[in-house]
Amino acid sequence: MNITIRPRRLRVSAPIRKLVRETRVSADSLIYPLFVTEGSGVHNEISSMPGQYHYSTDTILDKAAECLDAGIDKLLLFGLPSHKDEIGSMAWNDDGITQQAIRGLKAKFPNLTIVADVCLCEYTSHGHCGAVRDGVIDNDETLELLSKTSVSLAKSGADIIAPSDMMDGRVAAIRSALDENGLVNTPIMSYSVKYASAFYGPFRAAADSAPQFGDRKTYQMDYHNVREAIKEANLDEAEGADILMVKPALSFLDVIAAVKAETSLPLAAYSVSGEYSMIKAAGAAGYIDEYAVMTETAAGIYRAGADILISYFAPELAKAIKRGDLG
Ligand code: PBG
Repeated sequence: MNITIRPRRLRVSAPIRKLVRETRVSADSLIYPLFVTEGSGVHNEISSMPGQYHYSTDTILDKAAECLDAGIDKLLLFGLPSHKDEIGSMAWNDDGITQQAIRGLKAKFPNLTIVADVCLCEYTSHGHCGAVRDGVIDNDETLELLSKTSVSLAKSGADIIAPSDMMDGRVAAIRSALDENGLVNTPIMSYSVKYASAFYGPFRAAADSAPQFGDRKTYQMDYHNVREAIKEANLDEAEGADILMVKPALSFLDVIAAVKAETSLPLAAYSVSGEYSMIKAAGAAGYIDEYAVMTETAAGIYRAGADILISYFAPELAKAIKRGDLG
């Protein structure tokens, strides 16, 4: 008998295709960002991010219940204070907007995991991520403010502290402040690799946090670089980060893969506001199939090496996973 072996690709039924999938996606690894603002009864759509809203501390409870029903039990909170000043003092106020929201959410839904974004740009009048002295960001003064903010948020019930400011040395500073306050089991998810990106545009409109002068290029990374990403990731790991993050996601899939190859820590990818709004806008215009592009891009981010995905589509992705269209 003359047997010839023909190379071929597996062409099989849907169950077998799922059996041999290389990338697994679960709703357990999704985090959903939410914006909380002062007042009550607030449920205002963010014009730059259709389908995303500003919530107050009461309406955010309804949203959290909806998320839990959809299978999302991890939220990333951004607070939008009504009072902003030069140093962002509402960020570490124990009665600040984020602190209040965390206390309310944890009281009603103890099983919710709350990730608190730590940065000053939503709290400063100039919109920069740190304290400004003579027109320059003072890195070391900012470390103290970020540490105070982290302790206040963790004491309010935040389960994970996520510094997004890109100041040098902040992971070590925050870790030691948390430890000194007995918060030794509060993990740090560091925005380790954060590029200066035009994809944050819709978020800055939503958070009213666009810098009033200059830009963030002195502290956020240059998108031409990938070795610098490895350096940042290694520094954060050495400083005591528990989870690393690459942000944005879609233009940085190679960076996700490179950091994944380097680190033994869990790796998160943040698919940011501009990525979301771009898909929503093209979907609304009928240029693309929004649902199909949403699942394809999410799978791509996981395939690149992300263990965790932060996405404004999180509840929709969880539904897609339930339906079997993803995962
Ligand atoms: C705060 C912060 C930003 C984002 C997350 N945390 C804005 C920025 O750095 O300008 C952006 C998130 C998004 O675009 O979805 N520093």
